[in-house]
Amino acid sequence: MRLILLGAPGAGKGTQAEMLTKLYDIPCISTGNIFREHISNNTELGQKAKAYMDEGKLVPDSLVIELVKSRITQDDCKNGMIFDGFPRTIPQAEALDVMLKELSIPIDFVINVDVPDELIVDRMSGRTVCPSCGASYHKVNKVETVAGKCDLCGETLIQRDDDRAETVKKRLDVYHEQTEPLIAYYKAQGKVLDIDGVGTVEEVRDRVKKALGVK
Ligand code: AP5
Repeated sequence: MRLILLGAPGAGKGTQAEMLTKLYDIPCISTGNIFREHISNNTELGQKAKAYMDEGKLVPDSLVIELVKSRITQDDCKNGMIFDGFPRTIPQAEALDVMLKELSIPIDFVINVDVPDELIVDRMSGRTVCPSCGASYHKVNKVETVAGKCDLCGETLIQRDDDRAETVKKRLDVYHEQTEPLIAYYKAQGKVLDIDGVGTVEEVRDRVKKALGVK
């Protein structure tokens, strides 16, 4: 299974990706998580990406595409993969089409999680994330078992630098300008499953599973 998760920042892509990686036993390729890992390891790529991410802008296509190219040829991707946060621009989607064509592995579905902007701001302000494995939590909607610790790996949870209200607004503008056109791009390929992202994490999960034909 090869899936793309599309949706605004904070729409719940990462939350649903976590469920889907377990369901299909395939890795999730989250370009945002990969960049955050580079930032915490203070690599050259991390330093370049941070400048864009802190301002709510997209990292340049060339950097993102190279990163994904080297990731999808790794061994753990041979049975499939879930893209979370990639592609985010038409040039990224076109580059992915070329990469997958070369490997003869088409995308099966594009899951478009739809959440209105007003709800996004609320979700972001309550979010904490695990700096180690990338899992995300919410102070009301998805509470961790032991306060402040990741359920999956026990690491101390943090707030993301780009979850400040003014940066979230900028990220939403960038989403509408540069990423939303991908819905039409993939609709033209007949691959989009539109999912109402409003409701509890479990309600959205059930809609995603139903759309994929999973019980
Ligand atoms: P990235 O890390 O990809 O962030 P994003 O797309 O902005 O998405 P988020 O991770 O913020 O949200 P999400 O949809 O995964 O929501 P989540 O499940 O956490 O990118 C960050 C930055 O990196 C970009 O701005 C850019 O600079 C750069 N970048 C990354 N990829 C790039 C690319 N391809 N090209 C260029 N630049 C790139 O949920 C949010 C919160 O809501 C959580 O607290 C969660 O618990 C809660 N929640 C989830 N579902 C529900 C629900 N149904 N009800 C209530 N609460 C819910």
